[in-house]
Amino acid sequence: MVASSAPGKLILMGEHAVVFGQPAIATAISLRLKCKISPSSGFSVNGVPLSDRYHPYISSAVRKVWGSEPIAIDIVSEMPSSSGLGSSAAVTVAVLAALSQMKGQFSEKNVASNGFEVESEVQGRASPIDTSTCTHGRGIFIDRTPAADMLWEIKRDTRRWFIHHCDVPEMEMVVGYTGVVAHTGPLVAKVKHFADRSRFGMEIIEEIGSLTLEGLDKLKKGDRVALGGLMTKNQKLLAILGVSSPEIDKFIKVSLPYSYGAKLTGAGGGGSMIALTDHAKEVSEAIRKRGGTPIVVRTGAKGVTVDTA
Ligand code: PMV
Repeated sequence: MVASSAPGKLILMGEHAVVFGQPAIATAISLRLKCKISPSSGFSVNGVPLSDRYHPYISSAVRKVWGSEPIAIDIVSEMPSSSGLGSSAAVTVAVLAALSQMKGQFSEKNVASNGFEVESEVQGRASPIDTSTCTHGRGIFIDRTPAADMLWEIKRDTRRWFIHHCDVPEMEMVVGYTGVVAHTGPLVAKVKHFADRSRFGMEIIEEIGSLTLEGLDKLKKGDRVALGGLMTKNQKLLAILGVSSPEIDKFIKVSLPYSYGAKLTGAGGGGSMIALTDHAKEVSEAIRKRGGTPIVVRTGAKGVTVDTA
């Protein structure tokens, strides 16, 4: 039996724009997904037959790296699915890590690169941000050019992403989960439609890229005030792209009086927002009062782990 675990993730800055090759910063969080895989008489997930329909990420991961020997996969996740906290990436990465360990081929780079292929197959257009963060853990910075802390490079069509390690300190953040399920694929397609048809749309995407570079600098300096301000600006641009939602807007509004900054995280359209704050209790209370589910998380968590029993 092989057991693996992968963290959830938060995108601190740059979601959506990263799909167009702009920079982005993400961090692994203290919520994890655990996976156990053992030989079995048939392919199953949590006791039910493995299916493309109900387990698209797991099916695709199994097809990519595994043969025909039947296996039982057991998954337990601390992240709600489709919440913007990386549950799809975490399940993809944890399954790939366990399977590649069983084949004696485990490496972070392999898992991250296969993880991106799986996400692209299931979701359509994607960037490697989620799968690379859930694999490497701590923090990652994606850029268009390679630099000193580069971990790996990922390519697709004409796009290239250089994934770097980024020191994200352990910070407390409040996630406000809206409970509204919003699928990433259609939101990514919506932004592409906007950017393909208007110069203005593409300018917004480029501006998100510039803000993210500023955010990286503030993160490195530990300047939470400035980082928070940039996150809030990033949110305004995401709203122009049409990926915010009434619930996200409401939770951000009530969090900002107690926070350095707040924005949606992940694809948006529902899902979750995040607040950078020293007042987790007040922010959580404000979100709860407006019907959201607050989750206090810590950033900078470790990446994927694998154990053979
Ligand atoms: O699937 P989510 O909610 O974690 O969002 C992923 C981030 C996007 O930039 C919107 C898409 C991507 O693949 O980078």
